[in-house]
Amino acid sequence: MRRYLRVVVLCVACGLCSLLYAFSQLAVSLEEGAGGGGGKPQAAVASWLAGGGRGAVRGAGTAARPGGSDRCKDFPLCYWNPYWMLPSDVCGMNCFWEAAFRYSLKIQPVEKMHLAVVACGERLEETMTMLKSAIIFSIKPLQFHIFAEDQLHHSFKGRLDSWSFLQTFNYTLYPITFPSENAAEWKKLFKPCASQRLFLPLILKEVDSLLYVDTDILFLRPVDDIWSLLKKFNSTQIAAMAPEHEEPRIGWYNRFARHPYYGKTGVNSGVMLMNMTRMRRKYFKNDMTTVRLQWGDILMPLLKKYKLNITWGDQDLLNIMFFHNPESLFVFPCQWNYRPDHCIYGSNCQEAEEEGIFILHGNRGVYHDDKQPAFRAVYEALRNCSFEDDNIRSLLKPLELELQKTVHTYCGKIYKIFIKQLAKSVRDRYARSPKEK
Ligand SMILES: *[C@@H]1O[C@H](CO)[C@@H](O)[C@H](O)[C@H]1NC(C)=O
Ligand SMILES: *[C@@H]1O[C@H](CO)[C@@H](O)[C@H](O)[C@H]1NC(C)=O
Ligand SMILES: *[C@@H]1O[C@H](CO)[C@@H](O)[C@H](O)[C@H]1NC(C)=O
Ligand SMILES: *[C@@H]1O[C@H](CO)[C@@H](O)[C@H](O)[C@H]1NC(C)=O
Ligand SMILES: *[C@@H]1O[C@H](CO)[C@@H](O)[C@H](O)[C@H]1NC(C)=O
Repeated sequence: MRRYLRVVVLCVACGLCSLLYAFSQLAVSLEEGAGGGGGKPQAAVASWLAGGGRGAVRGAGTAARPGGSDRCKDFPLCYWNPYWMLPSDVCGMNCFWEAAFRYSLKIQPVEKMHLAVVACGERLEETMTMLKSAIIFSIKPLQFHIFAEDQLHHSFKGRLDSWSFLQTFNYTLYPITFPSENAAEWKKLFKPCASQRLFLPLILKEVDSLLYVDTDILFLRPVDDIWSLLKKFNSTQIAAMAPEHEEPRIGWYNRFARHPYYGKTGVNSGVMLMNMTRMRRKYFKNDMTTVRLQWGDILMPLLKKYKLNITWGDQDLLNIMFFHNPESLFVFPCQWNYRPDHCIYGSNCQEAEEEGIFILHGNRGVYHDDKQPAFRAVYEALRNCSFEDDNIRSLLKPLELELQKTVHTYCGKIYKIFIKQLAKSVRDRYARSPKEK
């Protein structure tokens, strides 16, 4: 008797399953029939997400994009449809049980891009120009984490609040802080605040991923583009940087360093993309103990061991760390961190020659002196420009004229690569933004 009952239950279950399967197949075929030229449902979901993302970013003024459809088309069919196969713009009549899934899809917040900078001394204007360049071209919303000396907080707040009408970014100001035991030692390293960045994974505990940049960075294309490299990390990579040099003959690390460094010429930490979730989890190989250490535990022993041998402070520590853990670093090409070194004695960043400069890095103070007028011209053009469309579009012509005056320098000779990507970014931004006037 028992056995008989079990067989019946099994049969009923199997029958139900095949019925469900049949229904879902029917639903799919109906849907494909009714789709009428629309793409695959999955594609529709993806494009809706992208469309929604943009709409959310550029604020209420954004008109419906051409080709965009109404959010919820009526669909005169009632079918049993797995929620993931339902086109995003269709409200089936059996919405009631899908609603839960669909709702969670809809309220999924647009991913924010987290950008951190550490500003000390006379870096207010430079930092504001960097932030402006990030805002002008970016698509997804930005979250700025600004670490600054206390006396700069008031000015940062004033300046950033005056941009709040844009509604495309939020910011948080932080004081400069170091672990209390060794604060004095960390402050002395290289420049007063530079080593702050090493502690970002420990301070910003809630943040998954972060783009750290120096104050002397200018974005010539959307932050979204470098942010998207995070998704290209393989399973062991935790951070991304560009090589310190392309040309070993003029490289610094390979000629002078008295400590280990990553790769052939070391890496430059002025533009550093981090998956901090992974950084916090990883146990790092090192040459101090036989056990692997976590980020929070490795920094102090590293400083103690190498402090007499390092020249560029925290960047050297990062080089030592990735020397021992090379599988953890994603190296991006030089056009994402373009410095005077790439053109000062002749051009050696081939990717930039081909596609233009994506992120400009005016280190050694070149935005503020006359040694590299090409770098300075780009900085001044962006510093002078405001957020109005017309203003941004009319930035290019005078900048090109300025750059043409710099052809007596090696960097100036290839001035076209300074505006190639910038011109494209301006065009793209204008195409994206609705006509306001
Ligand atoms: C900024 O923060 C406010 C308040 O938390 C929030 O309503 C707004 O959506 C945020 N803006 C962006 C662009 O993240
Ligand atoms: C960072 O790594 C974690 C753990 O591997 C992963 O869940 C997360 O999606 C990654 N973040 C990004 C932006 O790729
Ligand atoms: C520091 O540099 C000196 C001189 O090049 C070298 O002998 C020493 O081993 C270095 N120290 C470390 C910890 O690498
Ligand atoms: C990830 O890429 C790095 C650098 O190319 C490489 O060394 C490492 O082995 C890769 N990891 C995996 C799991 O493939
Ligand atoms: C930026 O403005 C300053 C004065 O505010 C002016 O001297 C300079 O020529 C301008 N530079 C550019 C590139 O427009």
